[in-house]
Amino acid sequence: MLLHQSSWQEVEAYLDHSKGIIIPIGSTEQHGPNGLLGTDALCPEIIAHEASKTSDLLIAPTFNVGIAQHHLGFTGTITLRPSTMIAALQDWIDSLVRHGFERIYFLNGHGGNVPTIQAAIAESYSSWSLAGESCPYRLQSRNWWDLPGVMKVCSAIFPVGDGSHATASEVAVTYFGYPESVKHVEMTPKIAPEGDFADADDYRKTFPDGRIGSDPAQATPEKGETITMAARDSLITDATAFFRAND
Ligand code: NI
Repeated sequence: MLLHQSSWQEVEAYLDHSKGIIIPIGSTEQHGPNGLLGTDALCPEIIAHEASKTSDLLIAPTFNVGIAQHHLGFTGTITLRPSTMIAALQDWIDSLVRHGFERIYFLNGHGGNVPTIQAAIAESYSSWSLAGESCPYRLQSRNWWDLPGVMKVCSAIFPVGDGSHATASEVAVTYFGYPESVKHVEMTPKIAPEGDFADADDYRKTFPDGRIGSDPAQATPEKGETITMAARDSLITDATAFFRAND
């Protein structure tokens, strides 16, 4: 069930039997020569939407702009400041809690979001702890590739050149979701360099085509389907357990 394709009465009825909701969360940032700018938001969205077809899980709209300051050297990238993102997440959380949601599960698609999501969770709990009150809800964040069993599938499909940014796995998942957007681009070098970065100019200088450690030319919709289905099944198990915790 998708929240944005439901009526308010349907969401009210859902809350009679579950207090849990999944929020896909990602980023709008460059993903190399053949990856979509929406990759990090599309991956958790595609996986969560697949999960909604075969389970009773409720999926929120995707929080699709995140922490991407280091990608601003590439056209099309949009970022939030960490402080802006924490404030926005707080408002999403407070709105859902007001309606009775007690388990909010962020399915994240961007490693650069992790510290900020954790800070938002700490902010949210802090307001209750400092007031001397017991928080009536629980928040969880999981990267889709960290769902149990998923990395094993990715490594089996892409034993070489999966990389750490514009990965073959994430590009494949978006190609499964949007096969009309498949791009055939020759990568030079075939596998991008690995390394660290600081700000946007430093990133652009160090990784000129945007990739880190990857050869995403290996991505196909079929490979993406295998990864998506593994992640879907693992998400259903993981989120269902979280929603039922302390029932
Ligand atoms: Ni990514």
